[in-house]
Amino acid sequence: MALLSDDPSLARPELEAFWMPFTANRQFKAAPRMVVKAEGMYYTTDDGRRILDGFAGLWCCNAGHCRKPIVEAIQKQAATMDYAPAFQMGQPLAFELASRIARMAPGALDHVFFCNSGSEAVDSALKIALAYHRVRGEGARTRLIGRERGYHGVGFGGISVGGIPSNRKMFGALLAGVDHLPHTHDPARNAYSRGQPQNGAELADALERLIALHDASTIAAVIVEPLAGSTGVLVPPKGYLQRLREITKRHGILLIFDEVITAFGRLGAAFASEVYGVEPDMITFAKGVTSGTVPMGGVVVSGEIHRAFMDGPPGAIELFHGYTYSAHVLACAAGIASLQLYEDEKLFERAARMAPKLEQAMHSLRGAPHVIDVRNQGLVAAVEVAARPGAVGARGYDIFLRCFEDGVLVRQTGDILALAPALIVEEAQIDRMVESLRKALGAVA
Ligand SMILES: Cc1ncc(COP(=O)(O)O)c(C=O)c1O
Repeated sequence: MALLSDDPSLARPELEAFWMPFTANRQFKAAPRMVVKAEGMYYTTDDGRRILDGFAGLWCCNAGHCRKPIVEAIQKQAATMDYAPAFQMGQPLAFELASRIARMAPGALDHVFFCNSGSEAVDSALKIALAYHRVRGEGARTRLIGRERGYHGVGFGGISVGGIPSNRKMFGALLAGVDHLPHTHDPARNAYSRGQPQNGAELADALERLIALHDASTIAAVIVEPLAGSTGVLVPPKGYLQRLREITKRHGILLIFDEVITAFGRLGAAFASEVYGVEPDMITFAKGVTSGTVPMGGVVVSGEIHRAFMDGPPGAIELFHGYTYSAHVLACAAGIASLQLYEDEKLFERAARMAPKLEQAMHSLRGAPHVIDVRNQGLVAAVEVAARPGAVGARGYDIFLRCFEDGVLVRQTGDILALAPALIVEEAQIDRMVESLRKALGAVA
């Protein structure tokens, strides 16, 4: 057995064993940022400092931290039944949560498949798309279309349709038969847009070219984030999603909205689909469904997709797909309590009400040192700074660190700093977050 504490070169040997995800491990372990407690809008660090959480954890704790009704539901369920298999067995909370989500989902989307993360939700949706065409006798539809700069988690499906080079380049040839739409980021025309940018609907027409290249009969689905979050908050241009919907429908191609970030209130409604007035064929979700408390993800599919599978002999398994922890009973308890809390406190409406405040506060950073763009919609906003020559992301990281030292957690991706606070955020807390950013912008080289 490796005795880590025997290595005298390690400043904090007890931190060595954990290989941290999406983290500069050596940099972090040399100067760790540890949180040990959370309540409402705040974390507490291991040295007792309170940190205002400007990012709802990681786009997920939409109801705020350690909310009593959710905590109690999880505690109660853990003491009543810890686990139940979901294959050929059921437990009532899974059916109740699926019904609730189906009721909240737009239009014809009315069946829910559960998994444990956004990455699994994406893989599930892509597999359902392929299988759907096959059960309908269109098995040649095997191509999947994603988008540059898209983030769809880290499974092989998700990185294949995703468009973030560093998430893809180390991992071989990925899925075959994938193509990508151009991203919609166009600072030359759209910098400092408030809400949806005016320019760029025509970028959806690139799908027509991919269809001309591959032929519609080979394409199963198009997957996009309605608002691209992890790549740095790219709000869809006006009319863009409508055009994607029109083209996909015309060619019998499924449209999947990856709403892992946008579902459950982030844009001021249950789903971004509702905000943009565009109904896809499937929606992936995770994060906010349990307000980040217990891992859970899922896919909401249209009745038409579900019906296509319900056609064979009644004793046959319709979809050979699922996870040991699909509809885990603790996640279901947390999910039901979270959705109830969102409803009781009208948190989606609250997010819509607070959105103009976040917009006004973030856009006040225009003109601050280094700033080259500010963009926002709902309770998501980002400020982008110019990269230091030859050191992309270095200035962004310094700003993130300064904010953390100042007691505010923001999210840094490259030279983009994002805010996506819990939906319970107060106006004064938004001011505090933005002032922290302003101070950091003025202080960094
Ligand atoms: C749009 C989108 N899809 C998928 C994922 C992956 O989710 P997870 O990290 O739960 O696998 C994320 C995570 O941020 C996301 O933003």
